[in-house]
Amino acid sequence: MKELPAKFQQTRQTVCVQGLGFVGSAMSLAIASAKDSNNEPLYNVIGVDVPNEAGYKKATSINDGIFPFENNDRKLEEAQKDAYKNGNLWATTEAAYFQYADVVVVDINLDVKYTESHEPILDLGLFKEAMHTLGKYIQPGTLIVVETTVPPGTCEKVVYPIILEEFLKRDIDKKEIFIAHSYERVMPGENYFDSIVNFWRVYSGIDEASADKCQKFLESVISTENYPLTRLEKTTATEIAKVLENSYRAATIAFIEEWGRFAEAVNVDLFEVINAIRMRPTHSNMRQPGFGVGGYCLTKDPYFAPLAAKEIFGLDNMEFPFSTQAVKVNNAMPLVSLNKIETLLGGSLRGKRILILGVSYRQDVGDTRYSPTEIFVKEAKKRGAEIICQDPLVDYWYEMDMKVLSDVPAFDGYDAVVFTVQHKQYEEIDFKAIDLKEKILIFDANCVLNKKQRLDIAQIERISFGSIGR
Ligand SMILES: NC(=O)c1ccc[n+]([C@@H]2O[C@H](COP(=O)([O-])OP(=O)(O)OC[C@H]3O[C@@H](n4cnc5c(N)ncnc54)[C@H](O)[C@@H]3O)[C@@H](O)[C@H]2O)c1
Repeated sequence: MKELPAKFQQTRQTVCVQGLGFVGSAMSLAIASAKDSNNEPLYNVIGVDVPNEAGYKKATSINDGIFPFENNDRKLEEAQKDAYKNGNLWATTEAAYFQYADVVVVDINLDVKYTESHEPILDLGLFKEAMHTLGKYIQPGTLIVVETTVPPGTCEKVVYPIILEEFLKRDIDKKEIFIAHSYERVMPGENYFDSIVNFWRVYSGIDEASADKCQKFLESVISTENYPLTRLEKTTATEIAKVLENSYRAATIAFIEEWGRFAEAVNVDLFEVINAIRMRPTHSNMRQPGFGVGGYCLTKDPYFAPLAAKEIFGLDNMEFPFSTQAVKVNNAMPLVSLNKIETLLGGSLRGKRILILGVSYRQDVGDTRYSPTEIFVKEAKKRGAEIICQDPLVDYWYEMDMKVLSDVPAFDGYDAVVFTVQHKQYEEIDFKAIDLKEKILIFDANCVLNKKQRLDIAQIERISFGSIGR
């Protein structure tokens, strides 16, 4: 039997978090921060990642009291310090520790794979392996809460049969299986921590008992008095809720893209148009044109329903044209900015020096997975441009194997400066103070610059200006 860390108080329940990525690391802290009526930590938390270099690095960082990802959320940093001081959070790469869990929260990745012709395919191999690991180690009665975004049907038709198979091997009654699904809505960025503990949740169980256990657990971690929980009837329903939620977002973003291009062609400011429409309460959350859609979720989740329909439920005639088209349109979106910049630079990018401000997939986060800037940079390089990137939260861009500047450099010497991400740092750029010897193009691809900055730019003779959607 593996020894628990000496600092763990033995009377507390133990929660294991499987997967210490952007979600699991933050969720571990949220659980470690849960307090009882005497303001004492409710749980001992064990974060478990895989035994490879990246997993070991994350676990070590957590054990050193350092959140493993660059972020700018003060609450998250405080929670990390608190957990370190209280000694109720510990991380490991050894799966055997799942044996201590009263609750396991599953926060591992489940990726969509692509064929050579870019067709999405479902590969549940690693996810299934992770579920076998749980089935081998957890005790009878342990609650498994799946937070990972999964194809609808996964808890019932994949997770349950695997846990059952492993329990039967260990002579454990199937009545001892408790599985719930409650998807994450965490938003890395300024409100990283609050987006877990102060946010609404949807949950369900494979049966009433699992759902009841899950409710009790969520109520102990999340401010459910202020952010009430919603219980759905079955796990397939909550799995659909997550995938629909993200597919809806991806589709509405894609929809606005075609209007952006039309507005530009006929010289209309689409942002003004949208603000006018937003006055109507039924349309107040209308999307606006942007640079592209990135990140780990919106780029894959719309594929989960079509893939699940076919591969989990065997429904061959089920089409999802809006969801699948949305991913394709969104993937092509950064090239709209690139084409516009090419035109504004005289029709060719060959030999042009372009400074990109922002490589992460969204503002104030350091996550570069599936960043739209990647699509832009790859194509710009193909067309002969020299690219230099800056981002306040990324110093090395792994996907592109490229160093990234932390400070915004002087603009002299570039043909174009392209703003792609709404990082806070860019609000401070004072264009009036910029001294330019040569003419440059400033291109705002993502509504990054404010009104004053745009007005200042308009006064500077050596700057020509372009943007998306206007
Ligand atoms: N990133 C977000 O903002 C966000 C928001 C909401 C939901 N989600 C969903 O949450 C899930 C996790 O996302 P993420 O961004 O944290 O992914 P991630 O890739 O950052 O983290 C996943 C972690 O799980 C680990 N892992 C994989 N298999 C494992 C195993 N068998 N045992 C232990 N650890 C294992 C990986 O090593 C990795 O550290 C995904 O389903 C994602 O779609 C993400």
